[in-house]
Amino acid sequence: MIRKVDLRSDTVTRPTPSMLQAMMKADVGDDVIDKDPTTQKLEEMAASIWGFDAALFCPSGTMCNQIAIMVHTKPGDEVICHRLSHIYWYEGGGIAANALCSVRLLDGENGIISPESLAYNINSVDEHHAHSALLSLENTVNKAGGTCYTAAQIRTLAEEGQRLGLKVHLDGARIYNALIYNNEQPADYHRSVDSMSICLSKGLGCPVGSLLLGSADFIVKAKRIRKRLGGGMRQSGFLAAAGIYALQNHIHRLADDHARARKLADGLRVSSWVSEVVSPQTNIVIFKTKKNPSEVAEKLEMHGIRLIHMCQGWLRLVTHLDISDDDIEYCLTIFRSMEK
Ligand SMILES: Cc1ncc(COP(=O)(O)O)c(C=O)c1O
Repeated sequence: MIRKVDLRSDTVTRPTPSMLQAMMKADVGDDVIDKDPTTQKLEEMAASIWGFDAALFCPSGTMCNQIAIMVHTKPGDEVICHRLSHIYWYEGGGIAANALCSVRLLDGENGIISPESLAYNINSVDEHHAHSALLSLENTVNKAGGTCYTAAQIRTLAEEGQRLGLKVHLDGARIYNALIYNNEQPADYHRSVDSMSICLSKGLGCPVGSLLLGSADFIVKAKRIRKRLGGGMRQSGFLAAAGIYALQNHIHRLADDHARARKLADGLRVSSWVSEVVSPQTNIVIFKTKKNPSEVAEKLEMHGIRLIHMCQGWLRLVTHLDISDDDIEYCLTIFRSMEK
């Protein structure tokens, strides 16, 4: 039987037996009628860890980001973000469709925006221009290959954005990968941004769920929008229990995913059929091939190795909870066999 190594995304993980145990034991209510106790526990826990007043458990990272954009803007405003941002590329045009806003895309090496670039991209206040309302940052930057800002860089950017009159949202889908890479703590981020999203369903290994964090007033507004978007969940405690378990047990192991990503990158770098590999900081490896990328993806798939073909010839591999050292060795063997 062919080995299956699914490296398409860190979202493909299955709950571990211990996580499933925690889910089955969850104390639940109805989080739409009033409150689900386990969801409330998760929200309070996350808000306290990250130094926000409150949190809101949502079905997805996309919903968290879209709600944040809608709370922070009004129709006709402009959202400023890096040109590789998830909110721009992969959220179904939600900035336009949900928030009725335009977007200003910024450059910056490895997906990282410089504070100096902000002032040039704020529209002057007159009726010709969209009102520059929101700066949205991403950490890690998925499309750049999981690159990281430090907490200090986020703080500097946020201070500059706020000085220029912007609200600042942080898409922290993979913020724990950034913490591990930079050897930082959530406290290093305290009171730096106006809102933040965290995905529990990526490296942390939950089946579903993301958290949106912000001030008490922000979360009241966010909750109304979540309801309007159909994101209120009833016995959400079963999912929240997985989130609590992940926050208690799955953070430090992210270092293993990073080490495995580095091994994959090393194997690719010495492969004659590979033309470019971005050195991974976290769990995402992006690379280009000398051959047709779709053919390479197909060939790997024949060997049970699944990856994602991103646009412009980039292929992406993501390590996660369900990938072992043996899986990595298997991938390296297959990479070598493709020399023939
Ligand atoms: C940086 C980033 N933000 C947000 C999301 C959206 O998360 P979800 O798939 O839960 O909607 C993703 C998903 O891959 C992501 O990579």
